[in-house]
Formats: sequence, C-alpha cells, structure tokens
Amino acid sequence: MNGLTDKTALITGASSGIGQAIAVRLAQEGCNVVINYRSSPEGAEDTVQKAMEKACADVEQCGVQSLLVQGDVSKEEDVLKMVEATLTRFGHLDILVNNAGVQADCPSHEISADDFDWVMGVNLRGAYLCARETIKHLLAEDRPGTIINISSVHEVIPRPNYLSYSISKGGMANMTKTLALEYAAQNIRVNGIGPGATVTPINQDWIDNPEKREVVESHIPMGRAGTTEEMAAAVAFLASDEAAYITGQTLFIDGGLTLYADFREAWSA
Ligand code: NAI
Repeated sequence: MNGLTDKTALITGASSGIGQAIAVRLAQEGCNVVINYRSSPEGAEDTVQKAMEKACADVEQCGVQSLLVQGDVSKEEDVLKMVEATLTRFGHLDILVNNAGVQADCPSHEISADDFDWVMGVNLRGAYLCARETIKHLLAEDRPGTIINISSVHEVIPRPNYLSYSISKGGMANMTKTLALEYAAQNIRVNGIGPGATVTPINQDWIDNPEKREVVESHIPMGRAGTTEEMAAAVAFLASDEAAYITGQTLFIDGGLTLYADFREAWSA
C-alpha cells in the first residue's frame, strides 16, 4: 500500500494476537516496527521473527528494522520511555497503533474498583497516553501522522458482564473522533477499527472448544470468526496514503456482527 515505506510504527501489545499480526503486516509494507510488550519478551521476539520473515521474503537485503520496548501502557513513565526509545532509534514516529487491551468478566454489580480501573487503565488511559505523546512529537516536528485505535464491536454493542470493557471501547470511539477533529488541520489522522470475534488468545475459552465456538459463530452473519490478518489488513489500509482523506472513523471488521443478525429473517410485522 502507498506511503508506508520507511515510516516508523509503534504497536502496543504486539507480542500476541491482533497486535502481532499488525506488526507483521506493517513490516511487510516497509515500516520500521516498534513492538511494545508488557510481560512476554518471547512473544515479542516471535513477532520480530515473523515480521522480518515477511518483510524480507522478496529482497536480499531488507531495510526494515525492529525495536522491542517493554512497557505497561497504563503507566505514564513507561509510555514516555517507549516513545523516547522509538525516537532515539528511528528519529521519528509516524504511526501509532493503540492495540493493547484487556477485559474482565464479572457481573456489573460485583466488579471491584481495582478490576474496573485496570481495564480502563490499559484500554483507555493507555491509549490516550500513547496518543498524547505521539501527537506532541508530530506537532513539534511539524510532521503528518496517523493513529489507529483497536476498538471493538462493543464500541456500539452493549456487553453485559463486561461493563468496563464496553465503557472503555465506547470511550475509545469518542477519543478517536475528538482527536481527529482537534488535529485534522495538522494532518494527523485518527481512526479506529472495530474487530468482531477474532481468533486470538483473548478468546482461548471458545477457540479450542468446538461446541462453544459453534455458538459464537452462529451469531455472526458470515458464519465464522475473523482472523488477525484480516484485522491487520484494515490497519495497514488506514495507516497508508490510500486512506489519506479518512479521519475520525471506526471501521468495523466483523463479518456483519454489527448488522443485528436477528433481523436476517422477518420476526415482526
Ligand atoms: P491478546 O490478549 O492476544 O492481545 C492483547 C495484548 O495486549 C497482549 O499482547 C497483552 O500482553 C497486551 N497488554 C495487556 N495489558 C497491557 C499493558 N498494560 N501494557 C501493554 N500491553 C498490554 O488479544 P487480542 O484479541 O489480540 O486483542 C488485541 C486488541 O483487540 C485488544 O484491544 C482487544 O480489546 C481488541 N479486540 C479483540 C477482539 C477479539 O475477538 N480477539 C474483538 C474486538 C477487539
């Protein structure tokens, strides 16, 4: 895709799942990739290996480089260190992918304040801190740039027992729009993707259980869960110059999950 070669992309939570696939795809498109991980250096190393295999598949000497940065996105000092390490190594940061995310499964009247704060801290505060530091850098250098927030279908579909998750993704939608409007004139584009059910470690509970998986997939109009590569393709598009006039949007990639599957057949007059 146009406009990704020699760009630097920071992807949070990139040692597994959707974040790993995004890092691999952006490297394949010619970006230098900064791979943030919280606690799994092995996962992050795996991301680097896969990214370099893809990026260098067709060329003898591959120009794409990678950097691993440990850090908890909910901690301000860690975010400052991550961005500083990126700038020290590459001199600039063009693409931020706010991917790190967690969820807590608990009836809403029982969730502890600590669990609530944990989910909001990673999903919303962490995304905000990373966006803030990226925007500061872009403004200081007078550079265009782009931020892509990995939201969820639960940005718009309520999710009982996952209150903090739903709130965090709903808040992320507003963050996407507010930042997009605030910095459009500076050529900083801010968009999101809203994945539906995707095959990643966060869904281990139903992925390896055929019966549970069938139930999940029966609710999806296209009849199957999504892949991490399908999410990464949309991120690469939004980060590229092909999407140069798109800002403030969340693109749902969900096999039709946000189309209200119950209306497939008429059930009311
Ligand atoms: P995952 O569990 O493989 O990825 C989440 C990543 O975030 C992990 O690598 C984890 O180590 C990292 N992380 C957690 N806390 C962190 C912290 N404090 N600082 C830095 N990194 C941290 O799961 P998946 O599915 O790849 O999730 C990625 C994103 O996609 C999340 O934001 C999730 O909400 C979103 N998503 C996933 C869907 C799915 O069905 N898998 C559906 C909709 C959205």
